[in-house]
Amino acid sequence: MNIHKYEKLWLVAALLLIVGFIITITYGSVGLGIAMIDDSEDTIEPGELSEDERFADPRVEQVGENEYEAYVVAQTFIFQPDPIEVPENSEVTFYVTSPDVIHSFSVVGTNLNTMVIPGEVSTMTAEFDEPEEYGIICNEYCGTGHHNMEGQLHVVPEDEFDMTELSVEAPDEVELGDEAAFEVTIENGQLDDLETTIDLEVGNETLTEDVTVGGDSTEETTLTVDTDDLGEGDHDWTVTVDDHDESGTLTVVDELEEGDDDE
Ligand code: CUA
Repeated sequence: MNIHKYEKLWLVAALLLIVGFIITITYGSVGLGIAMIDDSEDTIEPGELSEDERFADPRVEQVGENEYEAYVVAQTFIFQPDPIEVPENSEVTFYVTSPDVIHSFSVVGTNLNTMVIPGEVSTMTAEFDEPEEYGIICNEYCGTGHHNMEGQLHVVPEDEFDMTELSVEAPDEVELGDEAAFEVTIENGQLDDLETTIDLEVGNETLTEDVTVGGDSTEETTLTVDTDDLGEGDHDWTVTVDDHDESGTLTVVDELEEGDDDE
């Protein structure tokens, strides 16, 4: 069989093109290392996020000197936490999941953009060099509130970044002569120890206590005030730790009424 010279040439060219396409497609899907979300990724029970140790409490965690992990839940029609706060000069890995329907996690003005599928955990890592405030939007139609679904990502200066949480438990009413106990809980989310001071002001009394909270741990301290020093009546109190404070009112009564104990 005699094949014309030009026909041969075109056959070879077409073959080369086909091989070229196959190589391009293979490189694009495998060589670049771009992973699609699929069922080989982490899976998670969407209805049980509240029992999942990563997502029950959406948060930012420090995992290395400048490395952080953000556990984010996208749900109708909010992102949690909001805002997501990370320090400048950090590398942040985002883990995002949804308890209900498909959303997206799209940080405006960056190439951080992923679908969020119930049952899957979308993972992305990004570096943030400068303080900046980004908006987060949802790009997947998820229901009537879709167009209002937005969040914030704040990259803050290092000295403003804070992973301390303060909570105080104090009685509302105490009998004169008894002690009033203020249970102060300080949570230190950083890896380094936190050396700080608890200041308690109640009425005219001031109590101060130095505490050291280990890295990534929680410290409980109880400060007690003698109500004889306060006297009967309402006393406003404030507990201050660094930039955090909590306040309330303590009432010192002559005698607690029956069954009034736990009010
Ligand atoms: Cu969530 Cu659209």
